[in-house]
Amino acid sequence: MSPNYDEAVVKKFATATVVWGIVGMLVGVILALQLAWWPANLGMPWTTFGRLRPLHTNAVIFAFGGNIVFTGIYYSMQRLLKTRMFSDALSNFHFWGWQAIIVSAAVTLPLGMTQSKEYAELIWPVDIAIAVVWVAFAINFFGTLAIRKVDHLYVAIWIYMCFVLTIPVLHIVNSLALPATLTRSYPIYSGLTDGLVQWWYGHNAVGFFLTTPFLGLMYYFLPRASGRPVFSYRLSIVHFWALVFLYIWAGPHHLLYSALPDWAQTAGMIFSIMLIAPSWGGMLNGLLTLRGAWDKLRTDPILKFMVVAISFYGMSTFEGPMMSIRAVNGLAHYTNWVVGHVHSGALGWVGMITFAVLYWLWPRLYKRELYSVPAATAHFWLATIGIVLYIVSMWAAGLTEGLMWRAVDEAGLLQYPNFVDIVHQLDPFYWIRFLGGSMYLVGALLLGWNLVMTMTSGKPEAAPVPAPAK
Ligand code: HEM
Ligand code: HEM
Repeated sequence: MSPNYDEAVVKKFATATVVWGIVGMLVGVILALQLAWWPANLGMPWTTFGRLRPLHTNAVIFAFGGNIVFTGIYYSMQRLLKTRMFSDALSNFHFWGWQAIIVSAAVTLPLGMTQSKEYAELIWPVDIAIAVVWVAFAINFFGTLAIRKVDHLYVAIWIYMCFVLTIPVLHIVNSLALPATLTRSYPIYSGLTDGLVQWWYGHNAVGFFLTTPFLGLMYYFLPRASGRPVFSYRLSIVHFWALVFLYIWAGPHHLLYSALPDWAQTAGMIFSIMLIAPSWGGMLNGLLTLRGAWDKLRTDPILKFMVVAISFYGMSTFEGPMMSIRAVNGLAHYTNWVVGHVHSGALGWVGMITFAVLYWLWPRLYKRELYSVPAATAHFWLATIGIVLYIVSMWAAGLTEGLMWRAVDEAGLLQYPNFVDIVHQLDPFYWIRFLGGSMYLVGALLLGWNLVMTMTSGKPEAAPVPAPAK
């Protein structure tokens, strides 16, 4: 008899992923438009770029990214450990608490309430709520581990464990502050220390929120979607431990050429370069898992999304270490190249693997065939072309501004002393990014439509039997 798994919480998190994903991307498209055409700021404080930007980053990272990771964890953990979650009450508290935090972000950020730390903008009462909800999640997670019916812990579970433990440490240490009023507080760190703690947090938010848990999703869902066992289980363990050991030290690559002592900058740079090895270990393990299944790529949009996701993971984790080299960072820092790098990871890796998981999971959750495979394929092409337009335009923009800022004439004087002249050079690139981002958003809307149609039409059918985990 199969255990009585809690599917309801998985369905809720999956739905929230789609809804917040569309909201977050829509705000991204509005930001892209604002940079190309300033009147889109609409002349109101709540809708200006400065207020909407953190709304976008919080929505896409913590609402879109967070909800899909929770979806994957609640679905796969119960199956890998052959037990229902430890507590339904805690699962529900986690779901509703997390959504309440997202709603409070959506209200406070446009109102201008912020702690001004990137990816940690939310005001202190919300920070406390995040810690409380996370503790509930952790109790549920480790409670489930304690009541598991199998001894072996599959690599995805190790990865989830690392996510559950690392995120609260990063969040709490970086958010320590003295409250002054309900909406204002002062960080306990000052000056350079504040910067270092912030970028230790910021970089590891990328590492432990946008990278490792998504590798966990890859290790669970890729073998199922492809019907192939993981290429090397040993490699998955080795690259996982190497990744978490190295990631935590690489934060100073965000503070190159700053007042941070040189040795600390160099250490951050070296750890970042070393990160190529475990990152590519994960990428190769993912791609090689598909050996013998490449023919399926022609017809299966889920595998298409997965292959492109893993390829962008490889690409962004090659680009990142290159950008960590001091001389390269001198050109890239403050430019749109960084924004391009961010989105090759965010749209390419995080977004594409999220879409793959949703297309695989939804028919199984609702026990119905996917409503439209051609629509899913159209989504794939819209998203892939959209990403290419986005990142290529941002590379071009980044190099243009980086080179123009540093250009000097024979007398050593700046060749382009008027900053605004350089900004105007970027106009065409901003429009191309707006086009690419809009295509990506239209793809996400197609996904939403396809999932609603899957849920509401057709007869329920027995869910396909998943392939073995390894
Ligand atoms: C080996 C892996 C990686 C390394 C070494 C790395 C390195 C870097 C470097 C050097 C920067 C530029 C810092 C600056 O000049 O301001 C950066 C920015 C960033 N990267 Fe990566 N990167 C890696 C992978 C990724 C991935 C996979 C993602 C997304 C999923 C990502 C997301 C970001 C974000 C969000 C920023 C912008 C931070 C900010 O300034 O707000 N990175 N990364
Ligand atoms: C339709 C899709 C999207 C569009 C059009 C879009 C657009 C934008 C724009 C215009 C910015 C501001 C760049 C700047 O300040 O110059 C931005 C920042 C950012 N976006 Fe997106 N975005 C999209 C999707 C996503 C997704 C899915 C993620 C993450 C999973 C993401 C993560 C980020 C991050 C981390 C930043 C801050 C980058 C930095 O500080 O360098 N975006 N986005």
